[in-house]
Amino acid sequence: MDKITTCVFDAYGTLFDVNAACRELSKEVGDKWYELSSLWRLRQVEYTWLRNSMKEYIDFWKITSDALDYAMETLNIKNIKLRKDLLSLYLNLEAYPEVKSVLEKIKKNGFKTVILSNGNKKMLECAVSNAKIQDLIDEILSVDDCKVYKPSSEVYDLVESKMGVKIEKVLFLSSNAWDIHAASNYGFKTIWVNRFQAKLERLPGKPYKIINSLEQIEKILKN
Ligand code: LAC
Repeated sequence: MDKITTCVFDAYGTLFDVNAACRELSKEVGDKWYELSSLWRLRQVEYTWLRNSMKEYIDFWKITSDALDYAMETLNIKNIKLRKDLLSLYLNLEAYPEVKSVLEKIKKNGFKTVILSNGNKKMLECAVSNAKIQDLIDEILSVDDCKVYKPSSEVYDLVESKMGVKIEKVLFLSSNAWDIHAASNYGFKTIWVNRFQAKLERLPGKPYKIINSLEQIEKILKN
């Protein structure tokens, strides 16, 4: 890990728990809360890819609300108050339990910490401040600065163009396999935080290491 100076984190699913909003309102949503959460996330990500292909960028907040509307309609959930409450929870999404202590350790070991996400600045700042990790993140980079979503290479370019950090100095961490394939293919050293026991995609680029929780990265960084 000699050359690495900077740990770059994906946000949603990696630092912040994308199921937290539906889980918190599981009583209101009912039995379908996990189905709603999964379909919401799936469409959110698919809409970013589709809009990239269509060259129809719109910010991630609109994508997130469009995806929720699609998921609610599909599952026949008609409830305007619930929609509003879910979106407001999404803005202040919980971090995974280990995130704060892991970031503290990374900082103590002298690494810079960066978020590189599809989220817009406001969404990311709200989630960071809700998780009380604002002092542990050196920089928040949002695709809103390049107006195209991951896995477009322009997004990964932001690390060098905005922070002056060269590709070979970056360790990129994401729970999304497709993001890991793309970031590895781009040239970052990557760690796949495989929180959901998924399989690697059949896509170019391979992770340097695979872990299940961010807790395991301290050991890797020391090697
Ligand atoms: C992000 C999504 C991809 O934070 O999780 O960029």
